[in-house]
Amino acid sequence: MDTTGHSLKRRNQQEEKLLPQIDREKLPQHIAIIMDGNGRWAERRGLKRVDGHRAGIKAVREVVEAAANLGIKILTLYAFSVENWKRPLKEVKTLMSLLRKYIKKETPTLLSNNIKLSVLGRMEGLPGEVQRDLRWALEATHHCTGLLFNIALNYGGRTELIDAFRKIWQQLEKGKETTLTIDEELIANNLYTAGQPDPDLLIRTSGEMRLSNFLLWQIAYSELWVTETLWPDFSRKELYEAIISYQKRERRFGGV
Ligand code: FPP
Repeated sequence: MDTTGHSLKRRNQQEEKLLPQIDREKLPQHIAIIMDGNGRWAERRGLKRVDGHRAGIKAVREVVEAAANLGIKILTLYAFSVENWKRPLKEVKTLMSLLRKYIKKETPTLLSNNIKLSVLGRMEGLPGEVQRDLRWALEATHHCTGLLFNIALNYGGRTELIDAFRKIWQQLEKGKETTLTIDEELIANNLYTAGQPDPDLLIRTSGEMRLSNFLLWQIAYSELWVTETLWPDFSRKELYEAIISYQKRERRFGGV
């Protein structure tokens, strides 16, 4: 067996040990992930940054499948932020093309696993062909009742709040509402995640201790789990470790 075969076997053994430690009665309902470290993963191997993104797709596939199999209700992956347009044009183009490839290739698998796709972010700001592919996948998986898979695309936590306040303002302007009570429920109901429970667990890869403008409203009481693992190396093993760590914590939501 070659080295890759050996490390794969070790990884599988580690996963097999971790899986029974997960309490199926206390699963986080919603897991959100900041996928970071694709560039560093590639640089460490003497490859181009875009090769890191390509390798990151494999991790996306594995994590989506693992979350669905575990019975997680919602998985949110941060794929492209409103700030990511500042990257070199070639990198942005590759990310968009990888996304299109992923959608085309994986939608049948999402469907057969009863996974519903959803987009969080300013979809209208994405290139036309990306929007078209996304709309097709959203429509195709609309009826699915298993895992809800949110992809955050052209997403920013602050732009989400701006969009929510604009929506609320429009409801008043159009006379749909004459009086509005400004409270948490009103704001939450106008976010991209309207109707969804907040993330219980927020995972970040590559060891960075930042929130990067991700789900700023929704993560008020999320449990954080940061791993040094770079996103392309993230697998079921890390997902299970994060859930096990989450299940050991006492959530007090500001109480005692
Ligand atoms: C962060 O790594 C990663 C991204 C900005 C993009 C993540 C996108 C994918 C994995 C592919 C598309 C996703 C889906 C859902 C199909 P980085 O480039 O910031 O890494 P670095 O910090 O090491 O430079």
